Amino acid sequence: MSGNTGRLRLGVNIDHVATVRNARGSEYPDPVRAAKLAEEAGADGITAHLREDRRHISDRDIERLMDRLKVPLNFEMAPTEEMQAIALRHRPHAVCIVPERREELTTEGGLDVKRDENRLAHFIAPLREAGCRVSIFIAADRAQIDAAHRIGAQVIELHTGAYCDAHHEGRLQDRDEELERLREMATHAHALGLEVHAGHGLTYDTVQPIAAFPELRELNIGHFLIGEAIFTGLGAAIREMRRLIDKARDVRG
Ligand code: PXP
Repeated sequence: MSGNTGRLRLGVNIDHVATVRNARGSEYPDPVRAAKLAEEAGADGITAHLREDRRHISDRDIERLMDRLKVPLNFEMAPTEEMQAIALRHRPHAVCIVPERREELTTEGGLDVKRDENRLAHFIAPLREAGCRVSIFIAADRAQIDAAHRIGAQVIELHTGAYCDAHHEGRLQDRDEELERLREMATHAHALGLEVHAGHGLTYDTVQPIAAFPELRELNIGHFLIGEAIFTGLGAAIREMRRLIDKARDVRG
């Protein structure tokens, strides 16, 4: 057995429970209730992205999550002063720095750490000092991983969106190339001493080849699980994802 083939942590992203709530400006469905249910179903952490435009998660949701969660909160945020101040006020277990553009439907690409290295190094220092684990959401790109390491991030989260898109669009050669790139970059990041996470766009169909990477410590999954919850319930969707992840790890072990 080589590398880490231990249990992979599953972080459940509850943003899109808030998307449904906000579609009607109502109080329900409540993302905090979903987070508690996810906890009961075996989620190892909860992820929530407070976007600049507050299109799903609200400031109040973050407050309530901090109060009520037993598992760690992974607070996703853009590298802005406003978000830094909010993170420093709440001091969540982890902060995941993501790029953000108002017009995008979701987080479309990884952060360009290399281009913004100095600023980001200064940006994350107080977050680290406040005790947050700092994670950087990046493409599977060696130069970006090296830059994330240089600025002092403890964790990188590899963007699996291109791999998932290629799979669902039937571009199988592209999918396999993306998978290989992700695999190599997970190994590279791990060798640098970074903790390696992955996520974006993962489904029952795409999770296992990624979950089998021995260097991986955590997956963050949201949109598919919240969608699947309509049909099977959130607890069942999370348990099925957990089963598939554990199976992929066993195959390696
Ligand atoms: N990881 C990060 C950094 C993200 O921005 C997102 C989407 O908010 C996810 C994971 C989860 O992606 P999805 O909702 O497509 O599963």
